[in-house]
Amino acid sequence: MTPYQSRCENLIETPRIWLITGVAGFIGSNLLEQLLRLGQTVVGLDNFATGHRKNLDDVRAAVGDSHWQNFTFYEGDICDLAACQRAAKGVDYILHQAALGSVPRSLEDPIRTNQSNIDGFLNMLVAAKDAGVKRFVYAASSSTYGDHPELPKVEDRIGRPLSPYAVTKYVNELYADVFAKCYGLQSIGLRYFNVFGPRQDPLGAYAAVIPCWFQNILTRQPCMINGDGETSRDFCYIDNTVQANILAATSDNVDAINQVYNVACGQRTSLNQLFYLIRELVAAEFADLSDAEPHYREFRAGDVRHSLADIGKASSLLGYSPTHELADGIKQAADWYIKNLNRLPQD
Ligand SMILES: NC(=O)c1ccc[n+]([C@@H]2O[C@H](COP(=O)([O-])OP(=O)(O)OC[C@H]3O[C@@H](n4cnc5c(N)ncnc54)[C@H](O)[C@@H]3O)[C@@H](O)[C@H]2O)c1
Repeated sequence: MTPYQSRCENLIETPRIWLITGVAGFIGSNLLEQLLRLGQTVVGLDNFATGHRKNLDDVRAAVGDSHWQNFTFYEGDICDLAACQRAAKGVDYILHQAALGSVPRSLEDPIRTNQSNIDGFLNMLVAAKDAGVKRFVYAASSSTYGDHPELPKVEDRIGRPLSPYAVTKYVNELYADVFAKCYGLQSIGLRYFNVFGPRQDPLGAYAAVIPCWFQNILTRQPCMINGDGETSRDFCYIDNTVQANILAATSDNVDAINQVYNVACGQRTSLNQLFYLIRELVAAEFADLSDAEPHYREFRAGDVRHSLADIGKASSLLGYSPTHELADGIKQAADWYIKNLNRLPQD
C-alpha cells in the first residue's frame, strides 16, 4: 500500500473537517470530489471570479447525494476577512487554492491579482491562526523559480520573479513562513507545475494551454504557440496534485512541516510535443481533425523558457508518488474534453 492509499484509509476511518478555498475552480473542485468520496466533511469558499457553479454541480453528480450532504458552500471573497473567518471556524485542515491565476492576467491587472493573491492570502492565514486549524496547505507555484536557470528546479534555489503573479506566489511563501515562526501555524506550500485535467477551464483569454488546445482543435480554432514551441513544461495531472494536498495536510513527519514542495511529474515536454499528443488523441475520435496545425507567434513576456521539477523532496518527506504521467493523464483529460465540449458542426 502506498503512503497515499494508507492516508486515505485512515481518513475514511476517522473523517475530518476540511476547508477548500477556490472550491469552484479546477483544482478546488477536484479536491472536493476526492475528499467527499473519502467521506470527509468539507466547507468551500469561492467568489466565482474564475470558478463555476457547474463545477460544483459536476462534483455533486459524481459523488452522489449522500456524500454531497457533507458539503457546505459559502459564496464569499477571501479579501473579506470575516468571510474567511466564518469559513475556517471549526475546521481541521485548510487547502487554500483561491487566487487569480495566470501570468498574463497579472501583467494586465497587477492590482486585482495582488488583492486576491496577497491580501486574500493574508486574510486566510489570519483566519487559520484564529481558528486554530491543524494545518494550512496552500497553492504555491513553479513561477517562484523565476529567472533561475537551473534544471531541474530544486526547492531551495529560486531566482527573481518574472511577473506580478510570481511575486504574489513568492510573498505567500514568505508570509506562511513568518506565521509559522511568529504564531506556530503549521503550513505546507505546494509549488504546482502546470496542472491539467477535467474541469480546467478552456475558455477566456487566460485559459491554460492544455484545455485551450483541446477546445480549439475540437472547434477548428487556431492553436497558438508562443515562441518556437521548444518551450517546455513539467505537466502534472490533477490526481497527482490532489494526492500531494492530502499527504501534506495529514503528514505526521515533523521534518515535512513548514516547507515548500514541488508538485509535478519530473518530466519535461515541449509545447510542440504537447500539441501533437493532443491532436493525436482528438484525431483518434474525430479523424477529420487530424490536419490541425499549430500557429506560431512571439514569445510571451513573463513566461519562463523551461520548467522541470525535482520531485525528490516531496517524495522523501511526504511520500508523494505521481500515479499519472503526462501520457496517462492527457488521455483522461481528452476523454473529458471530448465528452464535455460542444464540437462545432462540420462545414
Ligand atoms: N492550474 C495550474 O497549473 C496552477 C499552477 C500553479 C499554481 N496554481 C494555483 O493553484 C490554485 C488553483 O488554481 P486553478 O488552476 O484551480 O484555478 P481556477 O481559476 O480554476 O480556481 C481558482 C478559484 O479561486 C476562486 N477565487 C479567485 N479569487 C478569489 C477570491 N478573491 N475570493 C474567493 N475565491 C476566489 C475562483 O473563483 C476559482 O474558483 C491557484 O492558487 C493558482 O494560482 C495553479
